Amino acid sequence: MAEPIVGTSVWMVTGGIGYIGGHTVPRLLAAGHQVVVLDDLSTGLPHRLPEGATLVEASVLDTDTVTRALREHRVTGVIHFAGKKSVPESVADPMLYYQQNVGGTTCLLSAMLRAGTMKLAYSSTAAVYGVPRKEVVDEGEPAAPINPYGHSKLTGEQMIKAVGEAHGLSWLALRYFNAVGADDVTLSDRGISNLFPLVFKAFSEGRPVLVTGDDFATHDGTGVRDYIHVADLADAHLAAVERLNREQAAEIVNIGTGRGYSVLEVIAALQEVVGREVPYVVGPRRPGDPAKVVASVEKARRVLGWSAQRGLKEMVASAWFARQALELA
Ligand code: WQD
Repeated sequence: MAEPIVGTSVWMVTGGIGYIGGHTVPRLLAAGHQVVVLDDLSTGLPHRLPEGATLVEASVLDTDTVTRALREHRVTGVIHFAGKKSVPESVADPMLYYQQNVGGTTCLLSAMLRAGTMKLAYSSTAAVYGVPRKEVVDEGEPAAPINPYGHSKLTGEQMIKAVGEAHGLSWLALRYFNAVGADDVTLSDRGISNLFPLVFKAFSEGRPVLVTGDDFATHDGTGVRDYIHVADLADAHLAAVERLNREQAAEIVNIGTGRGYSVLEVIAALQEVVGREVPYVVGPRRPGDPAKVVASVEKARRVLGWSAQRGLKEMVASAWFARQALELA
């Protein structure tokens, strides 16, 4: 690999041909950074690797290979996306989540310390809050995950904080709220257990959408979440890289829009996109489902100089068209 251009840096992106990684890598390249994608191709798609990025096909659990890649490419820092992210799957198979998410982060940190790579942006989640006490959640809200997915991500945060204190690792843990949408049709989220793919699948199959509860204390009775366009999420990671390149960091940061949308508002947005009615039925609440979870975004603005730009219509339209392209592929 050529010498990094002065003022830029070399970043390893684990899971870099996945959903959020696939949106983040092009932004790093466009900003002049060099990128080494480490991906085991378990869910990542090779065609998502942009021109100019290097692919190392390996698992983040393979400490020796990761250490070698960090050294060989003189990596400045790592963005760690690689991991499992389905709440229901984590409940059914917790050990898969502890092996992949906690084990993966453990192995990555070991490799980074061996190679002397001391900057890390870590993919965390609002799921660490569990059922928050407040509707608008700031980073001081106690972390009380209610599923192995959220627990595995919180454990990663705690390990990173300890390595920062012990060895001087500079780090940012980004707690994503509900990531949706796509920059282009090749970058669709292939997850199936969240609201958007569930709505799209039901509508495409001519079935009514299932609304899980309409008796919440929200403006229309249905659940409210802080959906954030994945393009905004990717921009936040570029801002995190720039922040880590500027000065030492040890921060947990919510990444959301600061405004929530209800299930019925998501359905109404899809109706606008497709130009016809999207039938739905109301079913029982999901156990433990909070009424409203929205990010406080003040710290993201202060620490990263970043805030989300995109609205619900763009989220739903981009997600719908990307999903359609995925089904047709
Ligand atoms: C959203 C809203 C439901 C299904 C997830 C996880 C995790 C995280 C994103 C990564 C809620 C309602 C749902 C359905 C519905 N990702 N709903 N009908 O619960 O916020 O949690 O956030 O970190 O995957 O933490 O997201 O998409 O499951 O639900 O009406 O068939 O949609 O009640 O209000 P959630 P979700």
